[in-house]
Amino acid sequence: MSAGQNIVVLTGAGMSAESGVPTFRGVDGLWEGHRIEEVASPEGFARDPELVHHFYNLRRAALNTVEPNAGHLALVKLEREWRGKFLLVTQNVDDLHERAGSEKLIHMHGELRKARCECCGAVLSWTQELSSGTRCRACGEIGGLRPHIVWFGEFPFEMETIMSALEGADVFLCIGTSGVVYPAAGFAQQVASHSNCRLIEINIERTEISRHFHEHIVGPVSAELPKLVERLLSA
Ligand code: OAD
Repeated sequence: MSAGQNIVVLTGAGMSAESGVPTFRGVDGLWEGHRIEEVASPEGFARDPELVHHFYNLRRAALNTVEPNAGHLALVKLEREWRGKFLLVTQNVDDLHERAGSEKLIHMHGELRKARCECCGAVLSWTQELSSGTRCRACGEIGGLRPHIVWFGEFPFEMETIMSALEGADVFLCIGTSGVVYPAAGFAQQVASHSNCRLIEINIERTEISRHFHEHIVGPVSAELPKLVERLLSA
């Protein structure tokens, strides 16, 4: 199927769940009694920066204890062996795709292992804790650093590149996302309007957007994605 065909892959938290990274909308959708929006919005950060830093410090530190799973590795194989254009768009802020070896990758919601300075605009690789007292390595200011994460109400990164890849997509794979956070939740509907784009979803359950897909594969990514990749590469 891959000769001359363009593929766009969208991943969400379900992609990394089997690596041990918790999803966002788990059992009660709360983190230590806070709604996710409270720790993932500019307003939340302005109200209580230390709480927000603490939330992301824990998630950043947790990356040291997780590894890519068979699903991440399958996407690397797909990227390397697919003969048309390939783009992987992830909503995940972990670095498991790049650790697995993915290269044509956009982190539309930012990256846990980066910090951004609101004083000088520098985006810095960051593996340590952040706090309101942290000094920016680029400009030396204290208190300007924030997680390089797209919060609710902010615009995701690299949307122009993503939109143009979606426009030319012949295959759209959507993996492990609940399909409730826009604009990513709208990608399936957008590509469904191309008469010739094939849409395939993998999730452990039906989602808000499953109705847009030609194929809905029910099951965990670590088992289902390697099988799907073999099928796509041999078609
Ligand atoms: P969610 O937590 O909303 O959804 C995770 C999805 O993964 C659910 O549909 C699960 O059914 C599915 N899932 C869980 N384990 C799976 C597995 N092993 N195999 C396959 N599917 C599995 O996460 P996202 O959809 O990624 O934004 O959430 C979107 C955005 O909301 C996130 O990027 C984040 C959050 O606010 C930001 O941080 C900006």
